[in-house]
Amino acid sequence: MFVASNEATVTPWEAEAFVDYDKLIKIFGSKPLTDNEINLLKSITGEIHPMLRRHVFYSHRDFDKFIESYRSGIRCALYTGRGPSGHTHLGHILPWIFTKWLQDKLGLELFFQMTDDEKYWHSEGGNIEEFNRLAYENILDLAALGLDPAKTHVIIDSEDIAFLYPIAVKVAKKITFSTQKGAFGFTESTNVGMIFYPVLQISVAFLPTELYGERVDVLIPAGIDQDPYWRIARDLAPSLGYSKPAQIHNKLLPGLGIGGKMSSSKPETAIYTTDLPEEAVKKIIRAYTGGQPTAELQRKLGGDPDHCPVFKMYEMLFEEDDKKLQDRYHACKTGALLCGECKAELAERVARFLKDHQAKRKAAESYVDKYLIRNKFNPPRIRK
Ligand code: TYM
Repeated sequence: MFVASNEATVTPWEAEAFVDYDKLIKIFGSKPLTDNEINLLKSITGEIHPMLRRHVFYSHRDFDKFIESYRSGIRCALYTGRGPSGHTHLGHILPWIFTKWLQDKLGLELFFQMTDDEKYWHSEGGNIEEFNRLAYENILDLAALGLDPAKTHVIIDSEDIAFLYPIAVKVAKKITFSTQKGAFGFTESTNVGMIFYPVLQISVAFLPTELYGERVDVLIPAGIDQDPYWRIARDLAPSLGYSKPAQIHNKLLPGLGIGGKMSSSKPETAIYTTDLPEEAVKKIIRAYTGGQPTAELQRKLGGDPDHCPVFKMYEMLFEEDDKKLQDRYHACKTGALLCGECKAELAERVARFLKDHQAKRKAAESYVDKYLIRNKFNPPRIRK
């Protein structure tokens, strides 16, 4: 367990309350993303994504080195993933939207892991067939977001293990149970599937190097909650002859209830990409906010946008225009904007997004196969 502050716990499976992100950087030992790294990227992309400007992506390891590798012509790739425990929610798509932007701007291939095995091992009950089905459902979201099928290669653990196992055997030998316990809080009663699982999440970081038979530097854009895997991956990479994978970490979109990230374990406070627009509107209208209990008090005292999940939805996903975001922030703080109004506008934007996204998801059913790694590459081989 990684305790970020007295109130906040962040692990790959749990993140409570509004997290103290600066403290998390110190505990995890990553670096804050500064203007230096952002400008380095800008020197290639020509523009900066709002998620960088707003420090939604806010921490990194070797992001600067990764950009230098890219500039010097070393082969580079992106890697991210999803544990398909259910349908995709708006928190999950946050790193994928940014990953798509990076893919487009840098022309990079993306390796995307769907960990149906992890979610099966982690669940109480459940069946692997269902998590596998959800993996395919979640691919529709990647397609709807516009990730390039020619450059996006999805590995579904339960079906594509041949791509990972030649790497996993070497990775597994380097990791002790003691390391696992320290990094993930495993105990004597954790099932051995979970104990083995991190080996697979780490192995994908080295897959591009194996597939291309040359050094490939990998950048992992993902939530900060996934960081424990990368610390281990970076420690063991040099001893196996791989580059240390770089990371760029995003903050977690809060759920619409009191505290906690948007999470599949609290479906009533999460908006899923498959929610009917009307359902999503209802969830937003019922959302907890940083506002005062009455309109009178709100006008008098103003609200607290820094601790408001509705404001965070604008900041992290639904307001591209910096000036408009700033105006909303001030209008909330000064009491000029009431929560009802703010929620109604958000509900309209979210409903519009969902309608469009769902039409694209439907269209993607006919070309899911184009994303599957097994249709594009042969697995790496131990026997050379
Ligand atoms: P999973 O399915 O929990 O999360 C998928 C991605 O979404 C991010 N995320 C969020 N980002 C912002 N706000 C939130 N509320 C929020 N909730 C989740 C996660 O950080 C992650 O980037 N074990 C992984 C699957 C995986 C993976 C990877 C993830 C395999 N390989 C490589 C990232 C990178 C998992 O269960 O993710």
